[in-house]
Amino acid sequence: MNARVGFWQHSAETYCESVSLTRIAEEIGTPVYVYSAAQLERNCRSLTAAFSAYPTLPCFAVKANSNPVLLKRIFEAGFGADVVSGGELRIALAAGARADQIVFSGVGKLESEIQLALQSKILSFHVESAEELDRLAALAQRGATVAPISFRINPNIDPKTDPKITTALYETKFGIPEPEARGLVEKVLRNPYLKLVGLSCHLGSQITDRDVFGEAAARMSQLAQEVMALGAKLSFLDLGGGVGVSYRGEKTIALEDYARTLLGPLRKTGLKLLIEPGRVVAATTGALLTRVIGRKRTPAKQFVIVDAGMNDLLRPALYGAFHRIEPVATREMPPEKVDVVGPICETTDCFAADRELPMLTAGDLVLIRDAGAYGFSMASTYNSRPLPAEVLVDGSSFRIIRASAPLV
Ligand SMILES: Cc1ncc(COP(=O)(O)O)c(C=O)c1O
Repeated sequence: MNARVGFWQHSAETYCESVSLTRIAEEIGTPVYVYSAAQLERNCRSLTAAFSAYPTLPCFAVKANSNPVLLKRIFEAGFGADVVSGGELRIALAAGARADQIVFSGVGKLESEIQLALQSKILSFHVESAEELDRLAALAQRGATVAPISFRINPNIDPKTDPKITTALYETKFGIPEPEARGLVEKVLRNPYLKLVGLSCHLGSQITDRDVFGEAAARMSQLAQEVMALGAKLSFLDLGGGVGVSYRGEKTIALEDYARTLLGPLRKTGLKLLIEPGRVVAATTGALLTRVIGRKRTPAKQFVIVDAGMNDLLRPALYGAFHRIEPVATREMPPEKVDVVGPICETTDCFAADRELPMLTAGDLVLIRDAGAYGFSMASTYNSRPLPAEVLVDGSSFRIIRASAPLV
């Protein structure tokens, strides 16, 4: 079989690279997250190539997928890390991220997390409020060290995505409003325990409108020039993550276009570019493999009940997110409209409502696609279910990269 990337159909069956998903389900059980090493490598390479003409550090948003084996490959591909907790910082360091390529965002950094990051000598604390700035300065002074910081700016730009994943409007808790940040520059410059090394912003996630990035790049580049004119010696501008992927065939932004859009305004500043991609690296890399438990009909609906639940993949229940759902075996099955639901005792435990699918019956395997980002990393043990296993396929072999552990 020729080397393949990701998930594909072969002889009426779905494969990940050269491994049959039926084989994985039989050997490992379901539900199980399956990742394609070649897809991950391709996604990393495509992003790096798009920005190859300019000094750029992609810092992978660890929240999207924090499996240590996958992280190691991402860091080996030259990525830094964007972390939002002490736990993510520890995982990133253990998986081989360089401390001087780690940025730390988050509206509620704990004292212990700040201390850990100070000791680790990370690239930047992305400060999200004036109060956090004071806290950070005090902790740096107590540790007789200097905290490298950037202001995470809230530019009040509508990223035109789902409001639940919008992070750069004044209605959200994130970042420092741009005018307030201007006023904080002098204060930082006077404080010997703080060093202003950059500016950052993150607009939101699953963004498919290029102009949104264009506006942010222009506004942030202008602000960076103003801040440097005040005497700050910035070294980077971090324009966050947010590039959308095609969950249902929607048009997304080509990475070359994305790069052009950011680099146009940024070049004038001469600053290094940081980006914080999560979804665009990890989403297509993974899928959730699940088995049909059975069917159930009510006067209103036909349900297909699978053995994965919202505890394994939360996005549909949390955001109403769409994931393609495909039978693994492609035998002739009459189409029907069904709700694909899990076993969890919540009405929102529904992966798809009124979805037209080939008729599925007990024992059939089903693949929930594009679940590599915000899939396992959002999984929980709700209903006292074990976390699903994670499997990495590499060519014709596969291995468990995180086992499903029983709770008791
Ligand atoms: C601060 C920050 N950076 C980067 C990301 C990654 O976003 P995405 O996965 O959409 O690229 C997120 C996620 O929302 C985030 O909160």
